[in-house]
Amino acid sequence: MSTDTHAPFEEKPETPRATGELIRLERVTKRFGDHTVLDNLDFSVDAGKHVTLIGPSGSGKTTILRLLMTLLKPDEGVITVDGQQLFPAPEKQVREVRKKIGMVFQQFNLFPNMSVLRNITEAPVTVLGMSKDAAEERARELLEMVGLTDHLDKRPAQLSGGQQQRVAIARALAMRPQVLLLDEVTSALDPELVAGVLDVLRDIARSTDITMLCVTHEMNFARDISDQVLMFDSGRVIEAGSPEKIFNEPEHDRTRQFLSAVL
Ligand SMILES: Nc1ncnc2c1ncn2[C@@H]1O[C@H](COP(=O)(O)OP(=O)(O)O)[C@@H](O)[C@H]1O
Ligand SMILES: [Mg+2]
Repeated sequence: MSTDTHAPFEEKPETPRATGELIRLERVTKRFGDHTVLDNLDFSVDAGKHVTLIGPSGSGKTTILRLLMTLLKPDEGVITVDGQQLFPAPEKQVREVRKKIGMVFQQFNLFPNMSVLRNITEAPVTVLGMSKDAAEERARELLEMVGLTDHLDKRPAQLSGGQQQRVAIARALAMRPQVLLLDEVTSALDPELVAGVLDVLRDIARSTDITMLCVTHEMNFARDISDQVLMFDSGRVIEAGSPEKIFNEPEHDRTRQFLSAVL
């Protein structure tokens, strides 16, 4: 069991948040060689909602998040975030829109040679131009929120996987994103460390208006936090609905098969 406790998180956004549709993918196709990974994909996420992507390995879930992070470009289609195009778009616009999005990866991806505190302050200072003092104040608040105030001078390698992942969550939130993308963030953790990370995410889901797009195999967590669950197969959404519908009364055989394998 983790002995760290985290403080309840109260987010006070400085700017009014968007309402209505925040993310929209239209006819998005992504190929690797002659393998079509996403095939004419359409979907949207409303501001403030928590949407979970489920589906078998290789179905294209990570690819969607990587497209939104602009780590990949689609071959066709349009991606819009908060009314502005992310793809296709000029480089300057991509950089602006990209600031609205934060991501937490399965493998943490912390900067190994920086302290915990610096991991969190680096991007706000270099990308947003925040003063070092303001960035550190914010980082300390976030570290309290994820239960790691005692560790701010440590290097990532001195922390457990669960603690590293909570630093990664704090680092993403330090940029005040409108959208948080979460890609199987507990899959690389020892089982006893999973609950602490999920508790932090539940808290963020409950107490902030951040839009969450989440890939997870933690079905109880998905059931708790999701407004909508999208079932993916072979680069398409084959079924979408409330967690009650998808988990209790799935319509598709493929969804039933998948859930019986993971539940
Ligand atoms: N950079 C890449 N080059 C070639 N194929 C890739 C690359 N990234 C992903 N793929 C392939 O795309 C498919 C979808 O991958 P991914 O989006 O990671 O699926 P998921 O996250 O649902 O498991 C898989 O068949 C994977 O092998
Ligand atoms: Mg994946």
